[in-house]
Amino acid sequence: MPEFKRYLVTAALPYANGPIHIGHLAGCYLPADIYVRYLRAKKLPVKFICGTDEHGVPITIKALQENTTPQAIVDHYHTLIRDSFAAVDISFDIFSRTSKPIHHETAQAFFKKLYNEGYFEVKETEQFYDEEKQMFLADRYIVGTCPVCGYEKAYGDQCEKCGSSLSPDELINPRSALSDSVPLKRKTKHWYMPLQRFEPWLRKWILEQHREWKANVYGQCKSWLDHGLQPRAMTRDSQWGVKVPLPEAEGKVLYVWFDAPIGYISATKELLPDTWKDWWQREDTRLIHFIGKDNIVFHCIIFPAMLKAHGDFVLPDNVPANEFLNIEGQKVSTSRNWAVWVHEYIHDFPPEQRGQDVLRYVLCANMPETKDNDFTWKDFQDRNNNELVAILGNFVNRTLVLMHKLCKGKVPPFHEEVQDEADQHLYAYLQKAKHNIENAIEQFHFRDALMEVMNVAREGNKYLQEKAPWLLAKDQATQLVNQPIIDNTIFMCLQLTANLAIFLNPFLPATARKICYLLKVVDRMLEWENAGSLKLLSVGYSLRAPELLFRKIEDAEIEKQIQKLQTAEQASATSTAVSTPQPTQATVKPTINYDDFDKLDLRVGTIIAAEKVKQADKLLQLTVDLGFEQRTIVSGIAQYFQPDQIIGQQVVVVANLAPRKLKGIVSQGMILMAEDDQGKLHFVTPSDNIPPGGKVS
Ligand code: 2FM
Ligand code: ZN
Repeated sequence: MPEFKRYLVTAALPYANGPIHIGHLAGCYLPADIYVRYLRAKKLPVKFICGTDEHGVPITIKALQENTTPQAIVDHYHTLIRDSFAAVDISFDIFSRTSKPIHHETAQAFFKKLYNEGYFEVKETEQFYDEEKQMFLADRYIVGTCPVCGYEKAYGDQCEKCGSSLSPDELINPRSALSDSVPLKRKTKHWYMPLQRFEPWLRKWILEQHREWKANVYGQCKSWLDHGLQPRAMTRDSQWGVKVPLPEAEGKVLYVWFDAPIGYISATKELLPDTWKDWWQREDTRLIHFIGKDNIVFHCIIFPAMLKAHGDFVLPDNVPANEFLNIEGQKVSTSRNWAVWVHEYIHDFPPEQRGQDVLRYVLCANMPETKDNDFTWKDFQDRNNNELVAILGNFVNRTLVLMHKLCKGKVPPFHEEVQDEADQHLYAYLQKAKHNIENAIEQFHFRDALMEVMNVAREGNKYLQEKAPWLLAKDQATQLVNQPIIDNTIFMCLQLTANLAIFLNPFLPATARKICYLLKVVDRMLEWENAGSLKLLSVGYSLRAPELLFRKIEDAEIEKQIQKLQTAEQASATSTAVSTPQPTQATVKPTINYDDFDKLDLRVGTIIAAEKVKQADKLLQLTVDLGFEQRTIVSGIAQYFQPDQIIGQQVVVVANLAPRKLKGIVSQGMILMAEDDQGKLHFVTPSDNIPPGGKVS
C-alpha cells in the first residue's frame, strides 16, 4: 500500500432509533475494526470515524409512537449504541452524532455550495399528507392493498408478501400507517439533485477505474448505472433534521441520506479541528467506507456524486460492503425482535470472560463477505468449544504449563546444535502465515485471515504433539539428556505464542492483551513489524502462571439463548398486534355484485414444479397444471413452504388474472391462500382430489 500517506476509515453511521445487533457488527463494524487495528499495528496513520445518524423519518415516527420527542429517542440510543460498540472493543477514534451543531453547519455549508453552483433543480410534486398527524408521509408510512397479490398491509414502497416494488399511488385504498386515516394529496416543493448528470463520470470512475471493488459492490453499482440514474430529492418536509439553509425553505430539512455521509466529514472536523483537511482534501489520503449491502448505492453513487460536485474532497478508494447475517436461518427483523442484541449478548457473555472476543471470533469466522450467512447459537458454541478452547486456548495453555514444568518457569535458551527439521518447518510456517494474513487483511478477506491465524495455533499443537517434550522428560535421567531438545521445543512454542498474540490482535484484541499479560510483555510487542520474529521473549525471562484463555460454553447456556430469541419474537408479535393500527379480520371489503364475482375464473390446479426466485426471499416460481395447460405462477409463499414439499399440492388458481412480471418472470395467474391469525399462509384446496382444470364457483 505504498502511494497513500494516511488512511481514513469510516463505518456506516447507525440510526439512533434502536440498539445494534450482531448483524450490524458482522456486516460493517467488525471488519472495519479489524482493518483499522491492523493498520495501527503497522504504525500507519489512520483515523476511524463513526457516530450515530440521528435524523430521518423513522426517528420522528418512533417518537410519535412512544409519545416522546425525537431528541429523547436519539439521546437514549446514542448512549446505548456507543456503549455496545465499546463493550465489543470497536475502537473508533471518534463516535460522534449528526445532531451536533458542527454537523449541522458542515452539512448546510455543503448544501449551500452545491446550491450556489447550480446543482439542484426545484420541483413541485403532490405527496400524501396525513392531516391528523399534520405531516407528509414517507412511502413506508402509507399502507394499502397490494395491486399484485391483494395483500392488505402492503407498504407504499414495497409489498412484503409478494416482494413487488410499489409506489404509493399504486396501492389500493391507501391509508396512513400512523393514524389509519385516508391521506390526502398535497403540493410540496423540493430540491432535486440530477444524478443522471453524473452518470458518465460514475461509469468511468467505478466501472473502469475500480474494477477491484468486491464483486457484490461492483455488481450493484453496475446494475444501478445500467438502469439509468434519476433526479433524487435532497430535501424533505419535516421539523426534525438539518434545516435547508434557504429562506424559501421553511419547514424543510435535508434528506437524511444527504446529511448522514457528510457526518463522516463533520466527525473528522470535531476530532481534528486543525488538520481535518489533510484527511479529507489531499489526494494521498485513502478513504475507505465500511458498510452493509443496503448502503451501497448511497456510498458508491450518491455520496461520491455529492463529493464530486463539491469538488474539494477525496473520493472513496474502496467500499468493502458485506452482505447480511441471518439468525438461525431467518433474516434479522427488528420489528419482529428476531435479533441478537449486542448489549444483551454482552450482559450474558461479559468482558471479564472476554465474551466480546468469542463473539468477534464467531462473527469473523462467519462473516457474510460474499453472500448472506447464518449465525446459529449451536455454531457459536461449537466454534468456541472446538476452536477457541480446543485449539487456540489449548496450545497457549499447554505451552505455559510445560514451560513451568520442564523449564523452571523461564524462557529457555535455543540450542542451535540440536535444531531439527520440525523447528525449521515451524519457523518457515510462521513466515508464510504472516505473509498470508497480511495479504488477506489487505484484500478485505477477513475470514481467510482469521483462518490463517488459527492455522498457526493448529500448527503449534501439531509441533508440540510430535516433539512430545513430556516423553523426553519421563524421568530425571532422560530429562537431563534431553533438556536441549525440550528447551528448543518450549522456546519455539513460547515464541509462537507471542506471534499468535500479534496475529490475533486485530481480531481478538482482549485475548492478545491477555497473552501479553501472561508472557509479561508490554502491549508494544503487538506491533506488526515484530511478527515472524523468534526473539520476542528474552531467554531467562520468567513468565506468569498459566490461566485459561477461554472457557467451555455449556449446552444449557445455548438453550437459554435460543429460548430467549424465540420468547422475544413472540412477545413482539403480541405487542405489535396491540400497538399498530391494522385493519381487523372482521373488516369486510366493500360489497360487489354477482357480475363482479362472475368475472373471476377460478380453477383447480396441481403444482408440478417449484423453485425459489433469485434475489426475492418471498417468492416461489411455480408450474401449475390446469389440465388444459400448464402455467408459470409467481407466488409470495417462499417463507412458508419449501419448493420440494409442495409438488403435487392441489391449489385454487385465479386463471383469468392479467399476466404480470415479477422479478423478470411473467406470472400467469394467482394462487388463493388462506391466512391464519398469526399471518401464516395455507393453501386453499378442494376436500377431495379433483382433476386439474376443475371449475371453482
Ligand atoms: O443504514 C443505516 O443505518 C444508515 N444510518 C447508515 C448511514 S451511513 C452514512 F452515510 F452516514
Ligand atoms: Zn403483494
